[in-house]
Parts: sequence; structure tokens; C-alpha cells
Amino acid sequence: MGADIGVTGLAVMGANLARNLARNGYTVALHNRTAARTDALISSYSSEGEFVRTETLAQLVESLEPPRRVLIMVKAGSPVDAVIEELMPLLDEGDIVIDAGNSFYEETRRREADLREKGLHFVGVGVSGGEEGALNGPSIMPGGSKESYQTLGPMLEKIAADYHGEPCCAWVGTDGAGHFVKMVHNGIEYADMQVIGESYDLMRSLAGLEPGRQAKVFREWNTTDLASYLIEITSEVLEQEDELTGHPLVDVIVDAAGQKGTGRWTAISGLEVGSPISTIAESVFARSISSQLDLRAATNEVFPAGINQAVTAEELYGSGDARQDFVEDIRKALYASKLVSYAQGFDMLTAAAAEYGWELDMRTIASLWRAGCIIRADLLDTIMKAYDAEGERPANLLLAEEFTEAISECLPAWRRVVAAAATYGVPAPVFSSSLAYYDSLRRDRLPAALTQGLRDYFGAHTYQRVDKPGTFHTRWSGDRTETEA
Ligand code: 6PG
Repeated sequence: MGADIGVTGLAVMGANLARNLARNGYTVALHNRTAARTDALISSYSSEGEFVRTETLAQLVESLEPPRRVLIMVKAGSPVDAVIEELMPLLDEGDIVIDAGNSFYEETRRREADLREKGLHFVGVGVSGGEEGALNGPSIMPGGSKESYQTLGPMLEKIAADYHGEPCCAWVGTDGAGHFVKMVHNGIEYADMQVIGESYDLMRSLAGLEPGRQAKVFREWNTTDLASYLIEITSEVLEQEDELTGHPLVDVIVDAAGQKGTGRWTAISGLEVGSPISTIAESVFARSISSQLDLRAATNEVFPAGINQAVTAEELYGSGDARQDFVEDIRKALYASKLVSYAQGFDMLTAAAAEYGWELDMRTIASLWRAGCIIRADLLDTIMKAYDAEGERPANLLLAEEFTEAISECLPAWRRVVAAAATYGVPAPVFSSSLAYYDSLRRDRLPAALTQGLRDYFGAHTYQRVDKPGTFHTRWSGDRTETEA
């Protein structure tokens, strides 16, 4: 009997997925560009299950039971193409190539089309949960053909995270849909982290709460409707003391946020499918600004921020109780902004489904994010309910009856927090842009009417009228009468 699946690329994610498969009873053929990694994995973990050592991709393919399943876990981009190119002549019709890395969905669409032409299945699989998830149960978002899921699905479901008996894995849609859904997950991940960061900054800068004390606040928040993995680990990071200096670790970490690119893709793709994902994009910008260390230093010299914690805390929150109220306001601002980021993420998924002809089921997608992934949160259960409702699906999550009351309840606090941030000069880009998104959607008239007027003035771009159908232009440089375009 041949191996059930082959894994090529045995850096930590690939190795952990291979071990997860073996622990679940599958025979896993292993390949890595340098065999030393393969050997190290086998020598440390052979007791966990059945591994087959191979040194070349040809050997890997040979060792597999047909239809062959080869999982690639290499760096996104050209390395994936290089492996596919080498694999292609070795495979037979009906074999399945799986890309479990964070590939850009357009590349997945291209690869899927190429391989389909040759009779092969190419399955772009979104995998979330980091190293730990890969080993013990990630959230898995497979795309590719429905047919490929029949043989691949049961394996992936077995190794996926389990949420009260349900696997966090389901086929989400054809070609690049899996990677698209994972990309949106990452966009929301960026927003989730940014709203946590803004909360931390406001609590520290305006209410004088030091990291150790905030760890307790976040721990408490984790027992509310904010309960989530990211809130949970925030308290752990905040209470960590630096061994070298004895200071809170967060104070010795350089405040420049890195990014591997998935958030940026989400922002770009959101614009491309015509979904205004301002909260998510703003989170990406926040990371970019943080990384402009030299410019920040230069600007700080010219315009020092000058927030005097003690003074502002005193001004804003004279008594201990008032400070507690502010912290509660921030919790509400965080919750409302987080909701906006999910609303935008799902809006973007809806737009992409129409654009690419995917049958994305929002309820299923929410279900996949309930365990194993980085954004796992109690909120996902409520989102599932919102998409579960009989009859019409909400046009936007903010309109789901599960959330309308919560938003109204958070609104005054949300406004107070954004106002305080602006008054005292603490940047809260995601809190404020989320609020602006909400306020824009609920506004009966937007200044876009003026924008249209201006466009018509300088470029004859025309406009529509509120009182009759048709397209119109005003003769701005002539007698200023209106003409139907
Ligand atoms: C996950 C993570 C994972 C990783 C990303 C984000 O779902 O397991 O999203 O994919 O952490 O690469 O990384 P950046 O923050 O560097 O973009």
C-alpha cells in the first residue's frame, strides 16, 4: 500500500501538518529540498504515525496511492510555481495538488486553470492557526473543484480544529475561493489586532493604565461578548515582563508592526471587488505608518505629541469610577469597531462571490472561523445566527437583528472614545474609520452629491437626479442650463 498523502516543504507549518496527518492515522510521504529536515522530522516524531522518507519529488509521487494527493507547503509566490512545474510531468489525470500556503487567490485561480487543462486538480487551501493550529487542528478553508473535495475533504476534516464535534473545515467554493476566504480572515485579523492596540493605547495614554493592570482588564473582557483568542493572548503579552530590564515586555518591543502581505492583499482586493473595507484597509495603513520610524521620529521632533498621561487622566477621569467608565466605553468602542470589520469582511466576500461566480455560504464561512484560527471568537456564533435567519439574509451584518441592538447600545460610548482620542491626539484610526463607515451607511444624504457636481463641472462626468430617471449634465462653461446626456 502506498502513502495516503505526500507533503513537500517541511518548514514548521509543513512539518506540523504532516505530523497532524500522521497522528490521525494517515501514512504521510515526506519531501523537503534538503533531506536533513525530512530526517529530523522522522527521527523526532516517527512514534506519532507512519512516515515515508523520500528524497526527490519523483520518489514522493511514486510512493503515493492513486489518486495521488500532494500537499505543497512552501513560501507563497514563485516557489509554489517551481514545485508545480516539477510535479506536473510526474502526475496522472485525477491527481490532486494542494497548496496550503498563504497564496494570493489570483495566483491560485491561474494555477487551478492551468492544472485543470491537464486533467489535474489544484486545490488552494486556506489554513489558519499558526504552528500550533497546524499541529493540533487548524481552521481549513479549501477551494478547488467540488470533485476533489470528495477524496480530500474527509482527510482535511479529520485534521481540522473541532468545534463542539464539528470540524472547522468545509469546501468553500471553486478555484481560488479557499485562499480568498483565508485572505479575508487575515484582513479581519489585522483589524482585530489594531482595535486591541488602539484600546491599549487609549487606556494607557488617557487613563493611565499600565500594561500589568491592562492584562487584568483584557482578561475580564474575555468573559464578555468580546471573548476571543486574540483578546486572551493580549493579556498574556501585556503581563509579560522583560527578563533583561524588568520592564513590561511591550515597552521594549520596537513599535513597528510587520506584515507579510496578506492584509495588503485584502485591502487591494476589497477595492477591486468594489467593497469599501475601510476598517480593514485602515488597519493595514496603521501598520505601515508604525513602520515609518524615521519619519515618525522627525515628525515627533517638530510636533511633539505631548500627551501627559497624568494630566489627561485627571482632566478626563477625575475619580476612579469615571476611569472605569472610560474603560467600559473603550470596550464598547472595540466591540462596535470589531463588528464593523466583520461586516466589511463579509461584504467583501459577498462582492467576490458575485465577481468570481463562487457559491460562498457566509454561514459556513463563519462556522470555519469558530475554532483553530487566529480570529476565533464567540462573536462567530452570533454571526452564524445572523446568516441562519429564515428568509432574507442581512444586506450587511450591521443590519442583522442580532447586532442592531448591540450597536445602538455601544454607540454613545463609541462616539465618546473617538472624540476623546481626537481631542487628546491619540491616534485611533480604526475606531474612527469604523464609526465613519457606520455613520456613512446610515446617512440619508451624503456629500457625494457635491462630488458628482464637481465631477460634472470639470470633466462633464454627468450625474443622476433624485426626481427623475436619466443622466444629466449642466453646461458649466456655457449658459448653465441642464441637458440630458
Ligand atoms: C493564521 C495567520 C497566519 C500568519 C499570517 C499573518 O491565520 O494562521 O494569519 O497566516 O500569521 O502570515 O502574518 P502578517 O501579520 O505577517 O501579515
